[in-house]
Amino acid sequence: MDRIVQLTARPGRREVAYDPAAAPSSLQVRAAQVLESNWTGRSTVPSRSLYPHQWSWDSAFIAIGLRHLSPLRAQTELETLLAAQWADGRIPHIVFSPSVPLDAYFPSPDFWRSSTAGRGAGAPRTVQTSGIVQPPVHALAAWLVHLADPGLSRARGFLARAYPRLAAWHRYLLHRRDLGGGGLVSVVHPWEQGMDNSPCWDRPLSRVTPAPARSFRRADLDHGSPEDRPTDLDYGRYVRLAADYRDRDYADGRGDFMVEDPAFNALLITSEYALARIAHELGAAGSARQTRAERLTAALVERLWDPAAGMFLCRDVRAGELIPERGVTGLVPLLLPALPRDLVTTLVRTVCGPHFGLGGTTRLVPSYDLLGEAFDPHRYWRGPAWFNTSWLLERGLRLHGERGRADALRKGILHTAGASDFAEYVDPYTAQACGATGFGWTAALTLDLLHDRPAWDRKGVPAIKGGDLG
Ligand code: SER
Repeated sequence: MDRIVQLTARPGRREVAYDPAAAPSSLQVRAAQVLESNWTGRSTVPSRSLYPHQWSWDSAFIAIGLRHLSPLRAQTELETLLAAQWADGRIPHIVFSPSVPLDAYFPSPDFWRSSTAGRGAGAPRTVQTSGIVQPPVHALAAWLVHLADPGLSRARGFLARAYPRLAAWHRYLLHRRDLGGGGLVSVVHPWEQGMDNSPCWDRPLSRVTPAPARSFRRADLDHGSPEDRPTDLDYGRYVRLAADYRDRDYADGRGDFMVEDPAFNALLITSEYALARIAHELGAAGSARQTRAERLTAALVERLWDPAAGMFLCRDVRAGELIPERGVTGLVPLLLPALPRDLVTTLVRTVCGPHFGLGGTTRLVPSYDLLGEAFDPHRYWRGPAWFNTSWLLERGLRLHGERGRADALRKGILHTAGASDFAEYVDPYTAQACGATGFGWTAALTLDLLHDRPAWDRKGVPAIKGGDLG
């Protein structure tokens, strides 16, 4: 396999030309080594052990860091994912690698059966994928990857090829997934939102009859400690929901699990701003997208803001009510530039208050309420701190002028990433590593924070200098 240093060491380029032998202990080199060893030739695995295929939102975060090492690899990462897009616009949450044995990961391609059950929805024939989606971080990633080397991007027609696919992806979400009828997107499986076993899902999931334990075999427990992973009961419900969706040929409509999630929708809005910038770069008008992003922000506030909690909550669309659990998802809308000022102030107070403890008892943002009944500092999304959500909040704090808090969070992320060997997630109090180490997005977002970053402007997405949309 070619090494990043050989791919990118060209004079005058903004790349990290590293020599592993020269400075083996620097954080930057160690992060680059993780991305190097997780690179498969066309994309990056989140973890060589636990997650041996390509994951959708992982790839977007990975591309955001990889662009500092090799803009070409970062473009390729996103292109590989986009090539697996379905004709109805959905970007699948997993793109399976044919060279990985079927029993290395569950659910495997023979569970999802994308090329048969997904035929009506336009699943690709040449590659096997899952049939559900993940948060839409991709347009943001594409724009940031473009900015890392606009010359290379233009020469390769990177944005011109990506734009129609990204636009179709957003169209799918906005048109097929507005299951609550209020303008926001619903997820139909906890894996779609990405925070699989968050206590926010306990109530809607309790309506789902679990698939019998003997009907499937978990592969994650071959690599991860059972105390760090979701329970068997959770898995039974995940399998039931995914199998039902598959057996409906992945047709969208109202099902047993439908949730409007603050982070999923906030990332869609952030990506809409990015699509506006991409359209502008390609010589088209982006103002309609910007207006849509503002309208979606208003819908998010109207449907998911809870003044008593001082944050956004998830909406259980089936039950027609907000879910009274504080998850980190409800803080992620801090990313949004059009958020009313009083909500920004309240969100900052909440993230630094007793429920999340940032700057006090915690150095990274926990995934769930420290005071919540279901809090568990080690079990997947029920308490541990994750690096992608902390990175998103670092950006949000910086965007809204909270420079001191953003700097402290950045320092906490960098220190913890290095000390935990780029863990998948950590105990929010002790920073003890949980899940996998050598985790792709942890290394990538470390690199992004180490790199000189453009200031996020008032639209929440960096512009090329002087290239503001006005
Ligand atoms: N996060 C899921 C897992 O743990 C899949 O997306 O396998």
